[in-house]
Amino acid sequence: MNDKFYISTPIYYVNDKPHIGHAYTTILADVLSRFHRNRNEETFFLTGLDEHGQKVEQAASARDVNPQQHCDEMAPRFTKLWEELHISNNDFIRTTESRHKKVVQEILQKVWDAGDIYEAEYEGLYSVSEERFVTEKEVESGDYRDIQTLKEKNYFFKMSKYQQKLIDHIESNPDFIRPEHRKNEILGFLKNPLNDLCISRPKSRMSWGIDLPFDDNYVTYVWFDALINYVTAIGYGADSESFKKWWPANMHLIGKDILTTHAVYWPTMLMSLGIDLPKTIFAHGWWLMKDSKMSKSLGNVVNPMDLISDYGVDPVRYYLMREMVLGQDANFTIDSFIKRYNADLANDLGNLLSRVSNLIVKNFEGKTPDPGTFTSQESELIEKANQFETLISEKIDEMKIHDAIEETLQFVRSVNRYLEETAPWKLVKEDKKSAARVLYSAAETLRISAIILEPIMPNRMEDLLASLGTKNKTLIWGELEIGSTITKGAPLFPRIQV
Ligand code: MSP
Repeated sequence: MNDKFYISTPIYYVNDKPHIGHAYTTILADVLSRFHRNRNEETFFLTGLDEHGQKVEQAASARDVNPQQHCDEMAPRFTKLWEELHISNNDFIRTTESRHKKVVQEILQKVWDAGDIYEAEYEGLYSVSEERFVTEKEVESGDYRDIQTLKEKNYFFKMSKYQQKLIDHIESNPDFIRPEHRKNEILGFLKNPLNDLCISRPKSRMSWGIDLPFDDNYVTYVWFDALINYVTAIGYGADSESFKKWWPANMHLIGKDILTTHAVYWPTMLMSLGIDLPKTIFAHGWWLMKDSKMSKSLGNVVNPMDLISDYGVDPVRYYLMREMVLGQDANFTIDSFIKRYNADLANDLGNLLSRVSNLIVKNFEGKTPDPGTFTSQESELIEKANQFETLISEKIDEMKIHDAIEETLQFVRSVNRYLEETAPWKLVKEDKKSAARVLYSAAETLRISAIILEPIMPNRMEDLLASLGTKNKTLIWGELEIGSTITKGAPLFPRIQV
């Protein structure tokens, strides 16, 4: 186990209207952070905004405001959404902040001093939409728009110099790029000679960026600027103690579309600086809409705000975490959302709570009864409960969140079966002592399930624990206090009527 955990999301383009894809990465980072905090690891969770580049400059000019004002006006769309989604980030970085500009310039100067930046005239195909030079092969793929031939003097980072060192690092650190198939993708990419990276943009063409410290006719290429956010936020160059404490990052969480920038550009930049590489770059798949990409032109972009206002924050978090197998793509449909909600949350979990609390309120004056001695009927539940902490911890380290959730729901389902078998609603009349044991066991199962699911549904699980009248979050069977006050409130997950 680590004693600290530093996790980051990509910094999102400030121009974009946040959609379910952005929300997903941030919720995932939040869930992981909460699991790690619960394991008593000191955790630093970073997210933020990518605010430089041509698109921002153009969008600002279309609105007739200066780019900084444009960024300031757009940023709250993200910060508000994170608040709504109960995101527990420790810092929020914007690349237009002075703390970041300073670090980018300091790093550029260092890389320059190390002799890893050179100036050259370059003629090539340039994609305006991607804001970078592209190869002929890329143009042929048809994925790039607004292609121009451009001849320009620019500054280049000697990425090629670190190619072999990077391959060696990837090969000897199996956790560096996860999942495995993404690692292989990068190793495949690195079989071809690596080009050097153009890291400047002449101001004559685009000026919304950070000045190169050694030539102020140029600004920094937006990716070179953006990646550095991961070290700025923890105090690179400003607070060496903090930097030493948090770096290297334990996990850069990204989507599969930005793997090369993170697994090739960023590590070679760090190598030039002589800094350790992050421990893991984890690339998740995409949310698709009926098997196709979400895009503005297809008009199928899911707005997380709409979903939350219709169904609540925690169910949305639950669905996103349960439905995506990390590393693969997943399909988003409202139908599957409603099915999942009704089956897992309304039926399995919600009904269990209302059944148990009703019976305790009615027959035990609303106090958790004394279970007496447990019997063989409970032994399976008890065994499972006491193994949970280790099991869930392993699942989280393996990035199998959907599995961790499924294990918990199976536990809940097994208690529902146990209630069918023991029928406490009959027992209360015939054998109150046994009824007490059964109802205590069911309530204890709920407590344990709520603790495990809390990182995923922090608010509703707090409510669940509150309705059991407990604050005890120890994952050991039997910690639910006898005599705790059970309250019967509104349903935790009211059924969605279709
Ligand atoms: N600004 C860069 C990142 C710089 S990090 C130093 C960027 N921003 S982005 O806003 O376009 O995308 C951010 C993240 O959102 C990416 O990880 C991307 O994979 C993710 N997603 C965008 N659409 C998505 C889906 N439909 N599904 C899942 N994630 C997707 O790239």
